[in-house]
Amino acid sequence: MNENKNLIFYQQAEHYTAAADISHFPKLDLPEVCFAGRSNVGKSSLINSICTKRALARTSNTPGRTQLIHFYNIQNKLFLSDLPGYGYAKAPKSKIFEWTKLMESYFKNRNNLSRVFILIDARRGIKSSDHDLMNLLNIVAVNFQCILTKIDKISSTELNEVTKNTLTQTENYAAAYPEIIKSSANKKIGIDKIHECLNLILNINDNSKKE
Ligand code: GTP
Ligand code: MG
Repeated sequence: MNENKNLIFYQQAEHYTAAADISHFPKLDLPEVCFAGRSNVGKSSLINSICTKRALARTSNTPGRTQLIHFYNIQNKLFLSDLPGYGYAKAPKSKIFEWTKLMESYFKNRNNLSRVFILIDARRGIKSSDHDLMNLLNIVAVNFQCILTKIDKISSTELNEVTKNTLTQTENYAAAYPEIIKSSANKKIGIDKIHECLNLILNINDNSKKE
């Protein structure tokens, strides 16, 4: 698909449902890709940019905006899910506990999950809470790929540094994709690359259905 076709396709994303626990997860025979990461890294903003819709997913300056798992349906071909952020230092313990439970049940039971995008704020780099998630994904054997976000906020030297560092810190995970995507939802950087990744997932799924 060229980028124009991508824009038309991904623009058709619609909010499908929001889930607070496993009983509300939609049962689907469609590939799904989720966006995980620390609070405030820009998960919801990136989903809006991928789908070129400003208010599809709710974004906020206040960490902890997304509290449920939000599912977005693209033409009954692909689902995107927006996860609540983790690692917010000021969050009450009960919230952290709830988050951990929700994420574990999501990652352990979502059989249609094709890939997890782990978003990392390019200004901050990988944190221990990201490693916690990567370890969990290694155990449940779900592939993940890191996306650096908000790269409009740093210089190209800093970007090279954080990219190298992210690669080094993820290369030992069996579940990790070796390619790091660099993005800015504000400046629309890396969106074409993410469209390409999603298209590949769509094609793989289409072909396996034909076999
Ligand atoms: P939670 O749902 O709370 O975990 O946050 P989130 O990861 O969904 O982040 P969200 O998309 O709500 O964005 C958080 C803040 O970062 C907002 O103020 C956004 O405007 C800002 N932001 C998101 N993406 C970018 C970006 O590419 N560049 C810049 N400069 N700011 C961004
Ligand atoms: Mg959010």
